[in-house]
Amino acid sequence: MSTADRAKRLIDKLPPRLASAVIGGAGRIPKVRAMLDAEYEAMLDAAPVVRPKADVPVYDRLPETGRSREDIIAEIEALADAERHEWSDGYASGAVYHGDAEHIAFLNRVYALQSQSNPLHLDLWPSGMKFESEIVAMTAGMLGSRIAAQAGDEIVGTVTSGGTESIIMAMKAYRDSAGFSKPEMVLPDSAHVAFDKAAAYFGYTQIKVPVADDLRADVDAMARAVTKRTVVIVGSAPGFPHGVIDPIPQLSDMARERRVGFHTDACLGGFVLPWAERLGYDVPPFDFRLPGVTSMSADTHKYGYAAKGTSVVLYRGRDLRRRQFYVATEWPGGLYYSPTLAGSRPGGLLAVAWAALVAMGEDGYLEATEAILATGAQIKEGIGAIDGLRVLGDPLWVIAFASDEVNIYEAMAQMAQRGWSLNGLHHPPAVHIAVTLRHTKPGVAERFLSDLADSVHQARTTGGEATTGAAPMYGMAATFPSRSAVKELITRYIDRIYEVDTK
Ligand SMILES: Cc1ncc(COP(=O)(O)O)c(C=O)c1O
Repeated sequence: MSTADRAKRLIDKLPPRLASAVIGGAGRIPKVRAMLDAEYEAMLDAAPVVRPKADVPVYDRLPETGRSREDIIAEIEALADAERHEWSDGYASGAVYHGDAEHIAFLNRVYALQSQSNPLHLDLWPSGMKFESEIVAMTAGMLGSRIAAQAGDEIVGTVTSGGTESIIMAMKAYRDSAGFSKPEMVLPDSAHVAFDKAAAYFGYTQIKVPVADDLRADVDAMARAVTKRTVVIVGSAPGFPHGVIDPIPQLSDMARERRVGFHTDACLGGFVLPWAERLGYDVPPFDFRLPGVTSMSADTHKYGYAAKGTSVVLYRGRDLRRRQFYVATEWPGGLYYSPTLAGSRPGGLLAVAWAALVAMGEDGYLEATEAILATGAQIKEGIGAIDGLRVLGDPLWVIAFASDEVNIYEAMAQMAQRGWSLNGLHHPPAVHIAVTLRHTKPGVAERFLSDLADSVHQARTTGGEATTGAAPMYGMAATFPSRSAVKELITRYIDRIYEVDTK
């Protein structure tokens, strides 16, 4: 047995905290450091970074002379052609939410007309603010602003670059309105990792509360976690991991009673749930119809069917929104303001999001939601009928499943070998599929279920190490004794994805 194997065996036997300390401490000894380095790199070699399949030139320096536009277009077309099948034929969880060729061509035309626009230059492109303010108004209208208005509340917001930025901006607003350092956010442990990122950026202490048995936020436990330092409580509609909707009415009432902000993260559900409700699904209120909801995030670049790069953050009242703005009065570069994180912003993407909303309309969203929820129900039922699998919680269209009989990551790897790109989850080990319009096409749900049944059967009969797609990473991460070692492994993985593939 090698020294590394012996060390690993020893570390495996230690409790996780102690193992982290041992790895951290021993890593400072040069010989051990070198051994750990080699181990990490060997593990990463086992799960190589995916590279483009098309045969195109690779650049690690500028070409001496610029190349012809036609050649460049041809190469980018080759790259796109090699990748299209991965998402357009319904093999991917989430990722591309609409994806019909005519819809994409329409959005691309809009982008082409506005690709130079930058809302930072309001004088040059007043159209940018038209698009942005109308996107906010339309999204707010869909999420209860008219009911809030009856109670005298105005729902306002901005467009951001995506769900993460919407959440980060909202958390900044709460931190700044708190007026003291080290504020606390109380959130279910199923909440999106963007809240962790916001906490890391803005010096929050996070109080993460385990979800209840049904995987929804535990209202009583969250109420007990609130302290004098709590400035915001969070719930998801639905949450990313298991697609279940937290009890938002109870959570937001609890927040209101305690005079604390409440954020509904509807990045996934903002453009689905209002229509699900109209279609007669049992969806409890989750938006500004509830007086305790003080902010929300809803992603236009997911089920709003816009291009990638936009989301909406909404607030009950201008006071909170103002906390996200940045204004500089003494900069030598002039008077400056910026409503969101970025300075210059892609006005073209605002135009695209606006065009997507207006082109879909209420009837378009209703129709899309009907198809997605029908396919979600079919997939949920089909998974439940596969021997050895069970669906987690009671989801509508983001369906997570686990197994007590087979290694779920092995099943995920088997699915990857059949072309599927699913999302690996952990705590507990599980996999999910976020159903999109791609999966509503004829035959796709049936193919998913029959491939999944085969994959589970294969995982049961052959077992073995998962070797395809993202599954090996999950396999490794699940067996690691030390979370700091998992972090180190992933950090090195990020380094690797930035390496230019000159081989
Ligand atoms: C519930 C939820 N919140 C936030 C996000 C973050 O969104 P983005 O990836 O656009 O930053 C996601 C992404 O899937 C999500 O599902």
